[in-house]
Amino acid sequence: MDSIIVTGNGPLSGQIPIAGAKNACLTLMPATLLSEEPLTLTNAPRLSDIKTMTELLQSLGTEVTSMSDGQVLAMSSHDMNNHIADYDIVRKMRASNLVLGPMLARLGHAVVSLPGGCAIGARPMDLHIDALTALGAEIELKDGYLHAQAPGGLKGAVHEMRFASVGATENVLMAATLAKGTTVLKNAAREPEIVDLADCLRAMGAQIEGDGTSTITIQGVDRLHGATHQVVTDRIELGTYMLAPAICGGEVECLGGRIELVGAFCEKLDEAGISVEETANGLKVSCKNGRAKAVNVTTEPFPGFPTDLQAQMMALMCTAEGNCVLEEKIFENRFMHAPELMRMGAQIEVHGGTASVTGVEKLKGAQVMATDLRASISLILAGLAAEGETIVNRVYHLDRGYERVVAKLSNLGAKIERVSGS
Ligand code: EPZ
Repeated sequence: MDSIIVTGNGPLSGQIPIAGAKNACLTLMPATLLSEEPLTLTNAPRLSDIKTMTELLQSLGTEVTSMSDGQVLAMSSHDMNNHIADYDIVRKMRASNLVLGPMLARLGHAVVSLPGGCAIGARPMDLHIDALTALGAEIELKDGYLHAQAPGGLKGAVHEMRFASVGATENVLMAATLAKGTTVLKNAAREPEIVDLADCLRAMGAQIEGDGTSTITIQGVDRLHGATHQVVTDRIELGTYMLAPAICGGEVECLGGRIELVGAFCEKLDEAGISVEETANGLKVSCKNGRAKAVNVTTEPFPGFPTDLQAQMMALMCTAEGNCVLEEKIFENRFMHAPELMRMGAQIEVHGGTASVTGVEKLKGAQVMATDLRASISLILAGLAAEGETIVNRVYHLDRGYERVVAKLSNLGAKIERVSGS
């Protein structure tokens, strides 16, 4: 397993390109199952999760051709020859469950393994099941697999979700495009990735309104045609790299960044004394007076503060001036980066879903272990500003969601290298 060694090396400066969104691409790819015609995605990120989704779609009979060094994915699901999403693939990546809705809509049946839990939580699928059942699907759990069928096809319905689940919204949005009649999904997730999916589905001929709000209306159509769609910028990678100059000092321009993708996050940066300026090419970030101020953070569904930026924000708060509380309200176990940051001298107290942080002047480099995707990059950010050398182990987590981390950060003046492990 590879490790990344990062040594505190003072302020950062320069430009950093932001890739296409992992969490948009992972729902755009299954959309190919809805049509017999080709779907091509551009600006796709080069990540191991995208490779996993490619493997899953190919196991269902989709042809996937990766071009332009992985940034273009040409897919064709004309000849689907399997409707079973196998446990061995699904357990590696929860987003595999996003083939359920499209397969049900296209084939009338689907067998999808339950993903099982992961480091950050139990990750159940009850909201997906309730919503698809409302559209007429019959779904039964057997041997760890969801056996779903829609005899006579899915039918439009009005359905209100108990919680604004991103994945459940995406599964229903895709399924409803081919359902008979109109679907109204209430308490829908509002993330930019939902809007990006709706844009792609509209390009394929779907009739969708209200995406980006809590109520999405879909008028079912008989079939969808092919399309080419550009994946939206990754707001989580954007927020992550905006924190690099905030933690280390200096000034960094995040190319492709847009304020509307990170609204609530930028409000918190402003409160912490970090300046964010919109430029013609993206967002320029600098730390006005050397050390950030402590600010309280509560994670919420979009447009609130994103849970996927909580670990990274905690790294900044560990060296901020003052005390703060970070409240994680989306996942039940998303503070595993805290004990690793404490090995670097951070002062954190975790009680259930809240972490109280007392900022220290300087963290000290240490051996630490990545436990999940966002925790791993949080440790790298902390290492960038720490005194001495930090060795982050198990960086395979990082490869799931961040492409070319060493190259991108080295380009800003960071002292960082990847060493291959046993
Ligand atoms: C998506 O996961 C993202 N993944 C996650 O990003 C992100 O953290 C999450 O949305 C919240 O924004 C992808 O888009 C591939 P949810 P998803 O359904 O769809 C509970 C990352 O780091 N829930 O909105 O799985 C669930 O347990 C990843 O890139 C149910 O109870 O998130 C969680 O507590 C991590 N029943 C909460 O809702 C369900 O049926 C949010 O889950 C579904 C979810």
